[in-house]
Amino acid sequence: MSNIRPSSVKIRKLTERKPQRRPTLRARIARGARAAKRRSYPVRERYYRLTRALRSRGTAGWLISTEATYGGYVEGVPVRRTGRCDPKSTAALRRATMAGGDRMLRHAYAPAYARRLRPFVPEHTARELAREPTRGPSRAEPAGGCRRRTTVLEIGVLHGTGLAIWCDLFPDARVVGLDIDLDPYYANVNRLHSLGAFRRNQPEVYLFDQLEPERYDIAEIIGHDTVQVCIDDGHHSNRAVLNTMHAVLPFLDQQFVYFVEDNPGVHRRIRAQFPQFAVESAGELTMVSRDADRSTLWQVSCLSAL
Ligand SMILES: C[S@@+](CC[C@H](N)C(=O)[O-])C[C@H]1O[C@@H](n2cnc3c(N)ncnc32)[C@H](O)[C@@H]1O
Repeated sequence: MSNIRPSSVKIRKLTERKPQRRPTLRARIARGARAAKRRSYPVRERYYRLTRALRSRGTAGWLISTEATYGGYVEGVPVRRTGRCDPKSTAALRRATMAGGDRMLRHAYAPAYARRLRPFVPEHTARELAREPTRGPSRAEPAGGCRRRTTVLEIGVLHGTGLAIWCDLFPDARVVGLDIDLDPYYANVNRLHSLGAFRRNQPEVYLFDQLEPERYDIAEIIGHDTVQVCIDDGHHSNRAVLNTMHAVLPFLDQQFVYFVEDNPGVHRRIRAQFPQFAVESAGELTMVSRDADRSTLWQVSCLSAL
């Protein structure tokens, strides 16, 4: 009897299981549209690659074209190095893969990037830039004496597609990439050069673990510069994002924009921990900047608390 019971219970459970509801016509159409969009990405990337020369630097179209030019979307890159504090199990990490080159077209962050980067993009037009002779990295201080040069910091380098975009967009800036594993970048850097990347500017790359930022001397990396543009496209967990923000905070310029990618909920934590900043959230992208009014209020309240 005891042998029969569990299987009979199982049979009853199986027969009692409610029939699966068929997805509605609307849901099926939406699923089909999403699949068609996914299939169309390679064609769209090719189109953007071919039309890059027609686009004005810094526009959403230019950002998509430039990302496509430097390799576009890549997926299935195995995770080879992780931090000591990564909460994922070893088995999960062994199975995990990474994707890159997906911010402008796949995630459709290009319009938000174009809008938020506009105040930081130098005033040259695309035609002026095309006339510029090819040269190595510009390390000259910007005109105006004590003004510090623009520093663009990207956390999460992978194949370096992002760094290639930033070097084209900010030919006079210092472009710095941080990652826990720089091997995929070193393995791809020659390909990036052959695709035309880094002709006007060269990035610097350093090892960094967002889950243990205190192990790395970020002050030494940033030096006397200040960060105007920061892009967090690394580990994507709340802890990693907030750790990194706390580590980078002392080096942020008076005017800055800080992008956090692929995390739909972290904007709430950022708002709570950094009330002095203006936080804007758009889907999985969060954009942080200095809110002039709130920043002054915060400084006043900190001073009066002393
Ligand atoms: C989504 S990929 C970056 C894609 C890249 N920004 C691009 O434009 O193609 C994520 C990167 O974050 C890095 N990463 C993962 N965990 C990290 C951590 N704890 N600290 C620093 N970087 C990390 C990975 O090594 C990987 O290169």
